[in-house]
Amino acid sequence: MLGRLLFVAALFVSFCGCQSGQKSITKDSFGSTGDGKKVDVYTLTNANGVQVEITNYGAIVVSLKVPDRNGEIADITLGYDKLEDYIKDTPYFGAIVGRYGNRIAKGKFTLDGKGYTLATNNDENHLHGGIKGYDKVVWEAEMVERCDSVGLKLSYLSKDGEEGYPGNVQITVTYLLNNDNELDIEYHATTDKATPFNPTHHSYFNLAGQGNGDILNHQMMINADRFTPVDAGLIPTGQLKSVKGTPMDFTTPTAIGKRVNQNDQQLVYGKGYDHNWVLNDWDGKMNSAAKVYEPTSGRVMEVLTTEPGIQFYCGNFLDGSNVGKGGKVYEHRFGFCLETQHFPDSPNQKDFPSTILKPGETYSHRTIYKFYTK
Ligand code: GLA
Repeated sequence: MLGRLLFVAALFVSFCGCQSGQKSITKDSFGSTGDGKKVDVYTLTNANGVQVEITNYGAIVVSLKVPDRNGEIADITLGYDKLEDYIKDTPYFGAIVGRYGNRIAKGKFTLDGKGYTLATNNDENHLHGGIKGYDKVVWEAEMVERCDSVGLKLSYLSKDGEEGYPGNVQITVTYLLNNDNELDIEYHATTDKATPFNPTHHSYFNLAGQGNGDILNHQMMINADRFTPVDAGLIPTGQLKSVKGTPMDFTTPTAIGKRVNQNDQQLVYGKGYDHNWVLNDWDGKMNSAAKVYEPTSGRVMEVLTTEPGIQFYCGNFLDGSNVGKGGKVYEHRFGFCLETQHFPDSPNQKDFPSTILKPGETYSHRTIYKFYTK
């Protein structure tokens, strides 16, 4: 088959002794960018028919198809059918965002006595890496096979001075889909100058199926007793505040819509949920972060991460202006994001865990989105 590369991963990998079912990865053209760079889309399929499409433009998850409790498969992430639409206008659908996911106040920070000014793209603040972040560049792609998964390794050299950041940062993001229905994302990076570094993944999920209504009936649980309150510009005040007695309390499963419109100062600032939660018992190892259940389909998504925080954003800025896959119109709160990360504005917050990557160190971060039904 011309123009199409297919390899079926090993059915039996006896030397590593793992259970291996049928899985595959295919590559197709996804078009090219305005400056003529060719872009592809890769389809990863596991032994259970779970499928994820990823493009090397923006390291974007284009679709994610998982079964409901009756075995019916649906695409549960928001996005576009065509590359042009991602290039034209996207609120970061499915992308890897960086060099710094989330906000840096006024786009300014001081490091080793030197002041830096970043591109500002969210009123006076810097958001998700600036004007041309990792979501808007073409990554190098390499298909990978591990004994229990298929994957795509994406690499990008983020140059010294890009969007105002110091240092050449070599980053790899590896998406792996395994037969336990886990989408596993591994991030690694090195730098030649100290720099803030805090990438994350920005899929918008709707476990009832993309374009299929709002997400207000999803039951959310977040493994966090505290969150980082913000000011009107969504910049943390520096406090770690208890969720107890506030609409931020997701320590037990609660419908997203139950309190989202309450007259609460934090919700007014966020126009709903758009906050960072401080995950319990952070020690840099894989830890449960969140669990979401959608009652009509029975789909459950669990998020595990090595990161200390998670931004829960419930699609408050979606307003019907994005026409997505299959012509679906994404109205207010039709998707939610769970962005595992260090806390927003850490370069300006001395009491938050550091986000500074130094020469000689290797950044590593792993997040798993796991799917099952009940
Ligand atoms: C992030 C931010 C939100 C919003 C979305 C994209 O999650 O926290 O405020 O900017 O990205 O629309």
